[in-house]
Amino acid sequence: MNNSPIGIFDSGVGGTSIWKEIHDLLPLENTVYLADSKNAPYGNKSVDEIISLSIKNTDLLLQLGCKIIVVACNTASTNAISLLREKYNVPIIGIEPAIKPAVLKTRTKNIGILATKGTLSSILFHSTSEKLTYGITITEVIGEGLVTLIEKGKINSKELKLLLQKYLQPMLEADIDYIVLGCSHFPYLIPHLKKILPSNIKIIDSGEAVAKQTQNILNQNNLMRIEKSLPTLQFFSNDNIGTLKMFLKDFSNNISIKKINF
Ligand code: DGL
Repeated sequence: MNNSPIGIFDSGVGGTSIWKEIHDLLPLENTVYLADSKNAPYGNKSVDEIISLSIKNTDLLLQLGCKIIVVACNTASTNAISLLREKYNVPIIGIEPAIKPAVLKTRTKNIGILATKGTLSSILFHSTSEKLTYGITITEVIGEGLVTLIEKGKINSKELKLLLQKYLQPMLEADIDYIVLGCSHFPYLIPHLKKILPSNIKIIDSGEAVAKQTQNILNQNNLMRIEKSLPTLQFFSNDNIGTLKMFLKDFSNNISIKKINF
């Protein structure tokens, strides 16, 4: 089992931002990444649909022999993680908007969260934010349309930049000093965010924390890879693999990216 891969899935290409953190921290681990781009975005789907897509992805990763599952999608994690944990025996790591560090550090007592509708309306997100944000105002904004543009590789399009400006405006008006990125697609927008936001506003995402949690759980379960040879790094998408290739171009010598049906 130790030499089996870490399985990672997302509604599409965004979870590669999490994969990069995991690969950085655990460079010898084998990984299998599923981009369910055919069904993206998950953010506007019903809870039942998000759960059944999450089960489909987890089933495939387990068929491919994965020893642990990382749900590299806030929308899937906040809506389906407890069900996945009940259903499967392998450890399951999820990703949630990193509100806690923002709450602990804010001076203006105002923080912003940019996420999908599915994440912001989830029971898990509500209970976490209610517990943590006493005395702090959160400006929640749904990043409608951003995931679809990122999936199409339109990361530098005027359309995307205009949407971002629109979504950040209420946060600027609310005097936030921290913005939490509650969607694994959004770390790819950080260069744009930095141009729009004044430099005193800090950007927080959960990628590094998820990688550390994956490392901890592998250690606790004695599941770290033992072999020291170069790892196998596989990426599968059920749609056009062009955007996946674009986001992974720095790794192109070592990885395999294939289109499959799932
Ligand atoms: N990367 C997913 C997330 O973290 C995007 C959700 C979607 O497909 O709408 O929420």
